[in-house]
This record gives sequence, structure tokens and C-alpha cells, in this order.
Amino acid sequence: VETSLDTSRSQAEALDRADPLAPFRERFVIADPRLVYLDGNSLGRLPRATTQRLARVVADEWGAELIRAWDGWLDLPVRIGDLLATTLLGARPDEVILADSTTVNFHRLATAALDAQPDRRAIVTDRANFPTDRYTLEGIAEARGLEIRWLEARPNVVPDGGPGPADVSGALDEQVALVTLCHVDYRSAAIADMAAVNAAAHDAGALTLWDCCHSVGVIPIELDRSGADLAVGCTYKYLNAGPGAPAFLYVRRELQDRLRNPIQGWFGQRDQFAMGPSYEPRAGIAGWLVGTPPMLGLAAVDEGVRLVAEAGIGAIREKSIALTEYAIDLFDAWLSGAGFRLGSPRDAARRGAHVSVHRADADQLTRSLIAVGVVPDFRPPDGIRLGLSPLTTRFADVWDGLTRLRELAA
Ligand SMILES: Cc1ncc(COP(=O)(O)O)c(C=O)c1O
Repeated sequence: VETSLDTSRSQAEALDRADPLAPFRERFVIADPRLVYLDGNSLGRLPRATTQRLARVVADEWGAELIRAWDGWLDLPVRIGDLLATTLLGARPDEVILADSTTVNFHRLATAALDAQPDRRAIVTDRANFPTDRYTLEGIAEARGLEIRWLEARPNVVPDGGPGPADVSGALDEQVALVTLCHVDYRSAAIADMAAVNAAAHDAGALTLWDCCHSVGVIPIELDRSGADLAVGCTYKYLNAGPGAPAFLYVRRELQDRLRNPIQGWFGQRDQFAMGPSYEPRAGIAGWLVGTPPMLGLAAVDEGVRLVAEAGIGAIREKSIALTEYAIDLFDAWLSGAGFRLGSPRDAARRGAHVSVHRADADQLTRSLIAVGVVPDFRPPDGIRLGLSPLTTRFADVWDGLTRLRELAA
């Protein structure tokens, strides 16, 4: 039976009325109600609770308690890590901390994985991987004289891209120490098969390191069950913790004794305030702390994780699929005949929370969209990413954004 799509705005409004997560939008600061914000996959909106929490941390804790506030602050990186682990990452307590940036954590974990396997001289990753991951690996490989085996992107930035387990298997042998990929591709939003890649890597005796920046808070993640060894991810996208908020770092419990934090700072030191003569790492995930944690950023992560956990990752994923499905329906109705190409998987099970559309003039189109109050982002060479954050993006926003794009592209 062929059903024709209702492309009216009233249909988008009806979808919003039926959306059980709709009330969550009111939990965020919406400074300009007319702004169509489709870039929560770069920087998530500010939760109202975070505004209040930060005011309290600044005035009541820092301002009033001064140094005494550290009594309540010291274990926050581990406490928030446990909350994130058990609500959104499919991990156990004492496997996750919040610390540093994604880039720094990625570097530390990759280095530790290589240190633990000195006889293996190769790293496998994806040519289309996020730049900071590629740059970090290049630096590490150069410093240690290691080989990087690049999984080549298929021509034209694969619409439903991302390397599959077979691509990974083809690059594996007894020389490979580490396989590292993004869980969700930053361009196409393709979801990697984490469990299958872990299994393939483990068959060859390699460790895996996952970058979950584009999946944490929006896709259910099963780090433990999938067999992942190591993972990192940022907190300023779907966790709404704000610019520069600390990232997460995950080390599977069974590996914690085998891997060592390559930056030996005093926060990773056993009996830190004894100020002892030499470094002795703390047991467990706390041994991955380095220096003084950023308390304002951490408080924002705490609020962001609580809000997402309250909404529930299952309900978030359900709405996320509905939003991207709706965006693709409108794309097919309005844009596919206008020279655009869809750059995200059509299979919802393989698609993350954003939708990429491509046309040669994408850069100019993105600037024109921003000028009329629609904010997506441009990714070279020709992609426009429409980031749909389930807690704040309405179906009407998708309709408004794609309507503007259709007008500008005509
Ligand atoms: C996949 C991925 N990795 C890493 C980063 C950024 O890392 P950092 O937080 O260190 O800037 C991003 C930022 O957008 C990203 O999308």
C-alpha cells in the first residue's frame, strides 16, 4: 500500500503534540524561540538546571566555602562517571571518569594500549575518522615508529559509510595492537557495529578504542556487553554540558591492572595528599585522573547526564529515529529532485541522530540558512549536517529547517 506523505506544517505540529518527550524542551533555555537550531550535535543547548547549579557552585561553594568545598568536589569525577556508566554507557561502576578533553583522553588511552603490547607495531583506523583522532594517531605513530593501517573511505564519502567488521578484519594480523573507530560517523551518522568489530579485533589479539562523541546521550551504548576495551566521548553535544566541559574516559574493569595512565599526575596518585616521593597509581578508574578537575564543567556534566537519564535513553532513541525518519521523508519529497544527495543511512538501525545532505554549494547554503535563522553546520567538501537533538528539537523545527533549505536551494 502506498501512503502519501503529509508534508504540511500542521502534520509536524501534530507529531509534536503526540511526542512524549516534548515537555523536556521546557527544561532548556530557549533564548530565541524563532531560532531553528539544528546543531545540537556540535553544541547542545543549555539546561535551565545547569544555570542554577553553576550559580550555586560559584556563589555557595567556591565563593563561600573556598578551599573547604574540595571535600564535596574531590570524588565528583568518579561519581559522575558511575552515573554516566550505569545510565547511558552500558558500563559498570568504576569503569568511567570525567576528565580532560576527548582528544587528551584518546591520546592517553591509545598510548596505554600500545604500551601494554610492545611487540605489536600497527594501529587500524578509518581514513574518514574525525580529525582529532587521526592527528593524535599520526603523532603517536610517528613518535614510536608504528604503522597506521588506514581503512580507506569508499569514494564520495559513502552515503551509508563507515567501515564494517569485514573491512576491519581485512586489516588485522598479529602486528595490530589497536583498532580505533568512531561509534557514530561525524559526517554520515553511520553507526558502527561495535560488538562485531570488538570480536574481530579480539580474535586477532588487538584492543579496541571507541570514540563515542556522536552517540553518547542519544544512542544506547553497550560498552561492557559489546566487549569494548576502551572508550572516550565528549559531553557538550547530546549531554548538553557546555563548551569545553570535561570528556568521559572508559577502561574495561578487566584491563585496569594491565593498562597504565601515561600522564602521572597527583590526582592519579594513591594517597594524594601524603605528597609522597614517587608515583604510585590509585587502583581502579581513579588512577586515570591527572590534575585538578574543572569543577564548573563537571557540575554541568552532572546536570546534563541527570537530565538525559531522566528522559531515558530508550525514549530518546525512539524520538531520534522518528526525527531523522521525518527529515529523510521531507528530503525525498523536496530535495532529492533538486540536486541533493542523502549522505546518511536510510536504515534507521544503522543511523545516528543527525542527517547529512550533500550538494556542491553546501557551504554557501549553510551560510544562507544561518542568515535566515536556521543553524545547521557545514562539513567539507559538500555536506550540510542537520543535527536533531531529541530533547530540544521539534518536528516543526525539522519542517521549518527543510522548508528554508528548499526555498534557498530552488
Ligand atoms: C568524533 C569526535 N571526536 C572528538 C571530538 C572533539 O574532541 P575535543 O572535545 O577534544 O575537542 C569531536 C568534536 O566534535 C568529535 O565529533
